[in-house]
Amino acid sequence: MMLFTAFGWYSQDWVCMHFSQHWFGQSGSTSHPSSFQKRPWRVETSGFGKDLSSESVGDYLAEELFIPKMDRRESVHFLVKRRFMNTQLYQDNFSHMTPAWSRIFNFVADRAEGAYIYTEDGKKLLDFTSGIGVTNTGHCHPKVVEAIRGKAGLFLHAQANIVIHKPMLQLIEELRKIVPPSIDSFYFANSGAEALENAVKIAKAATGRQNIIVFNGSFHGRTHATMALTTSKTGYRTGFGPLPSGIYVSPFPYAFNMHMTEEQASEYALGQLEYLLASQTAPKDTAAILIESVLGEGGYIVPPTSFMKGLREICDKHGIMLIFDEVQSGFGRTGKWFALEHFGVVPDIITCCISF
Ligand SMILES: Cc1ncc(COP(=O)(O)O)c(C=O)c1O
Repeated sequence: MMLFTAFGWYSQDWVCMHFSQHWFGQSGSTSHPSSFQKRPWRVETSGFGKDLSSESVGDYLAEELFIPKMDRRESVHFLVKRRFMNTQLYQDNFSHMTPAWSRIFNFVADRAEGAYIYTEDGKKLLDFTSGIGVTNTGHCHPKVVEAIRGKAGLFLHAQANIVIHKPMLQLIEELRKIVPPSIDSFYFANSGAEALENAVKIAKAATGRQNIIVFNGSFHGRTHATMALTTSKTGYRTGFGPLPSGIYVSPFPYAFNMHMTEEQASEYALGQLEYLLASQTAPKDTAAILIESVLGEGGYIVPPTSFMKGLREICDKHGIMLIFDEVQSGFGRTGKWFALEHFGVVPDIITCCISF
């Protein structure tokens, strides 16, 4: 479900417009451009909810809030514009920003520091999103900014195929101190999705096998291959098929949803995985089992330790590589450097990104 939330200044009171879209559950960079025309909306003001077709949002605003009748998109912008978006920069350029980026908030941010974002008109907003988990040390921590400035002054780009540069060797040295000792080879890419793309390629190359197993509720990115690895919402893939093949989906041990204890859910999910290996993707065709160490978008669910240990055993038995996606859970976000440390299970490949 996509939430489109706009805060507007209306009659000296904050009016919270809460629009949720039921069929195109999607936020982020691959929103389907046509979604702006098609989606149904839910509008909530002062706690009262109402489901509306996209055409009738303008009518609703006109009737209930006495706002001059506008089309749906204009009316959303009207509310936020009144408070935040009356600058020339916004007016000249916002309509040229691709609608493929859905937006949760529409204020124009000037800068950020620590836990706060400052808007162009000087409003100070407490940021609960941390760049979707990116700014672990807050916005613009002086030490982080200083480190980036320092490195930018040494190299802007020195392609690793051509130049062995000192900062990369130093980074490897630092990483080797915090990863399990068997993780002894490092590859640097540009995003989480690119890390996942490469993890899958490495597993295929190392095993000579072609299939990958993922779990229900997974999120691994928005590129073509990672879209195929992602099962948290149809919104990520709707309209973009056919997707890369050879990807099989097994149940995640989501005990609460399954009405089971954690141990029952673990046993059930491991059984289903064995069944998948017996019925759809033979071990000799299976290159890797890929799982988020903490299921993120699929519900923020910690898998039972017995399940993670069970995955390791199945992988060892069949020569399948185990990949832990720590793009969201890594780098201190679970209280340890990596979430995998809570399970005492070491995968063959770890993908990291967000707050790296
Ligand atoms: C678990 C997980 N894997 C992969 C990705 C993709 O990372 P990126 O958005 O940097 O491509 C994300 C992004 O949030 C993620 O949470």
